[in-house]
Amino acid sequence: MQLTPLHLQGGRELRGEIAVQGSKNAALPIIVASLLSAEKITLRGVPRLSDVHTILELLAHLGTQHVWVGANDLELHTPRILNTDAPYALVSKMRASFIVLGAILARAGQATVSMPGGCAWGPRPVDQHVKALRALGAEITEDGGNFTAVRQSSLSGRFIFELLTVGGTHNAILASVLGDGVVTLENASIDTDVVELIEFLNRMGADIQGAGTNTLTIRGVMALRGGEYTVIPDRIEAGTFMMLAAATRSCLTLTNVRSDHLRAVTGKLQEMGVSVMDSGQTMVVDARERALKPVNITTQSYPGFPTDLQPQMSALLATVPGTSVVQDPVYPDRLTHVAELHRMGANITVSGYTQVIQGGQLHAAPVKAADLRAGAALFIAALTCEGETVIDGVQYLNRGYECLVERLRGVGATVAQPDLALAMD
Ligand code: EPU
Repeated sequence: MQLTPLHLQGGRELRGEIAVQGSKNAALPIIVASLLSAEKITLRGVPRLSDVHTILELLAHLGTQHVWVGANDLELHTPRILNTDAPYALVSKMRASFIVLGAILARAGQATVSMPGGCAWGPRPVDQHVKALRALGAEITEDGGNFTAVRQSSLSGRFIFELLTVGGTHNAILASVLGDGVVTLENASIDTDVVELIEFLNRMGADIQGAGTNTLTIRGVMALRGGEYTVIPDRIEAGTFMMLAAATRSCLTLTNVRSDHLRAVTGKLQEMGVSVMDSGQTMVVDARERALKPVNITTQSYPGFPTDLQPQMSALLATVPGTSVVQDPVYPDRLTHVAELHRMGANITVSGYTQVIQGGQLHAAPVKAADLRAGAALFIAALTCEGETVIDGVQYLNRGYECLVERLRGVGATVAQPDLALAMD
């Protein structure tokens, strides 16, 4: 869906409270994990985002019935798997959907899933997903851009990931939960979204030990039951609004946060001179009347500084006098925001995955988001400067930020979106 651009008038202080939504990247794998149970599952705190609708469309094809039973409460039921294939038209819309491979394989014994391809900021390989499932006993063939996985018996054995991968760990867990095998995953991701998936699965009757450590032991169980689960707050959304507060030299109160998931972000903002006060579930980020200092950032897997906040941090640092260096080795090509920030007067020099940022005053300009977090960087930048910035590519923002216009208005931002739906892609 193509949406009409956002018109933002910046340059004024924001104030008030923003309630952070449930985590997109925790909700997506949990929704996929619901495929493993034949009973009803109710998820609370599910953000109503286009990525969630995309995964629900794919699950409907596989046999899942879903119904929204509250604003953010979702009931899922997969009495049986109707199709074991995830076609390109559905998988290509969202790379995260590749983890249905493990879930369908576990429940139905075989699965065919299209290769997800890259995204606006470069290749996003799935070699670790495939190597893990193979090492655990699945036969995987690749033909014309489709992966077909078949298992003769329950997955079992040991796999050591060659690098930390959130999606790869999700896929291997999902594939291993059902049956009578024992699986050990080493160098597994300790990301909050992996811990959440494990907590959800264990709540439904799975036997997974080691959540939050690099070694996971999964003992297969015969079936998972249904039940209820509440999705954790979105740390990337919270981080985005923290950077918005800092960039606009404002004070914002964020509710429904897990401050323990944001330590790397809080630490960097404090190093810059931003005041961050937290009481666990509420954070007050205050950058009023402060002369912020430049900082250097290198992204890492959790608990390091997240790549999903790199573009927003670059936008913030583009407003801070002095030289900052931002490096994103996790996704070296995640740089689509840079050319757009240049239009707004940012002084950013790129070499490989390194941005050298000389901060100063930005100015309004017409810009275009090419992906979700680049879009977030642009609305942060837009709200720092006088005049009207028009942001195109709004459909990307709808992948990750629920009711963004209303929530920005709620803290005093001047944001308009003249006509919502313009045309279909
Ligand atoms: N990688 C490989 N081979 C693999 C898998 C990953 O080389 O088989 C590499 C990637 O190229 C990357 C690194 O490993 O350099 C980490 O990738 P990871 O697999 O952890 O990423 P992901 O699971 O595909 C999730 C989030 C992304 C987020 C990354 C990193 C979801 C739906 N997506 O992706 O979120 O950037 O982890 O934290 O959970 C976003 O929300 O904007 C977003 C893109």
